[in-house]
Amino acid sequence: QIVPIVLSGGSGTRLWPLSRHAYPKQFIPLIGELSLFQMTLRRLEGLPDLGKPCVVGNDEQRFMVAEQLRMLGVQGRILLEPVGRNTAPAIAAAALDLTAEDPKTVMLVLPADHLISDTVAFHAAVKAALPAAQEGALVTFGVVPTRPETGYGYIEAGDAIGTGPARRVARFVEKPDLATAEAYVAGGHHWWNSGMFLFTAEHYLQAMETHAPAILEAVRRAHALAREDLDFLRLDAKAFAASPSDSIDYAVMERTQDAVVVPLDAGWNDVGSWQALWEVGAKDAAGNLLEGDVIALDCRDSYVHADHRLVAVLGLDGVVVAETADAVLVAPRDRVQEVKAVVGHLKHAG
Ligand code: GDD
Ligand code: MG
Repeated sequence: QIVPIVLSGGSGTRLWPLSRHAYPKQFIPLIGELSLFQMTLRRLEGLPDLGKPCVVGNDEQRFMVAEQLRMLGVQGRILLEPVGRNTAPAIAAAALDLTAEDPKTVMLVLPADHLISDTVAFHAAVKAALPAAQEGALVTFGVVPTRPETGYGYIEAGDAIGTGPARRVARFVEKPDLATAEAYVAGGHHWWNSGMFLFTAEHYLQAMETHAPAILEAVRRAHALAREDLDFLRLDAKAFAASPSDSIDYAVMERTQDAVVVPLDAGWNDVGSWQALWEVGAKDAAGNLLEGDVIALDCRDSYVHADHRLVAVLGLDGVVVAETADAVLVAPRDRVQEVKAVVGHLKHAG
């Protein structure tokens, strides 16, 4: 059985001011009627031997998660984290939860905030990854890079295994600096980590035992002391908060010898930033993506998003303007990764 594990606990800070802690981008209908979270669940339909999905998210988002599942008519297990400790503990909680029933359950770990335009190709990649996962590999899905993005993990592929497309991972490097990312893209031997993974619950827990025992211990306790509450399983607050905060990429994927990569050519986009949204959006002849009540005169390659009032722009070139009810962002398109710093500033300012 393949159980989808949907990670929905992030707050999508790089899409500020549209994405907020209380209403992060994965729950916003950014493109079309469904949210990215709902699209993530929808695109699983048709995969063979699919189990009930498990959503791991933070406590404050619980009603949004439940409501969006209900709208889709999907019955899911919902694990709640009292505080965010990043993805390594979140996935460990799901693995422990599944282990009670069957440690050999295959987990398909999915970020809740990605776009994939070619569902058929996505399903084919998951099927191609299945044998390796069942044999104990931690499988990632590799995307051919198109720019030296420093917000991603990079995978250097090694030897082929079997006759399919799966290859051993020679090296996994999470969020390299720009010079390194440039060298990887120029070299042509690296893939982006799509952030999706396939492995059995038992093999993930083994990897955690080896590479991140402190996280595993804290999460084990948090799960043992967890409380069922309506549709939710609440991880124990004190025990979970004691876990170190780390992502699966740093805690496990950079360290393990058991990683395997399967190529994914399915129109993947992580819509993580205004730049990424601009890339997938429908632009006019001058390369402008205009949303809402916008007047743009003599502009090029810009992204103007108006939520609550008329926004007029003149003579912009490569600029993002994002207007919401209570905040406005204006930034060069090629610096929108740094929007994270704005959010950090806001947090400190209280
Ligand atoms: N439940 C839970 N708890 N989910 C979380 C938490 C948490 O504490 N933190 C993040 N998430 C969710 C996010 O909502 C997102 O869906 C997913 O986990 C990945 O987290 P991000 O914070 O978006 O990671 P990233 O984008 O910096 O990096 C990852 O994704 C890249 C591709 O988009 C890494 O896997 C990179 O290697 C990868 O290239
Ligand atoms: Mg992300």
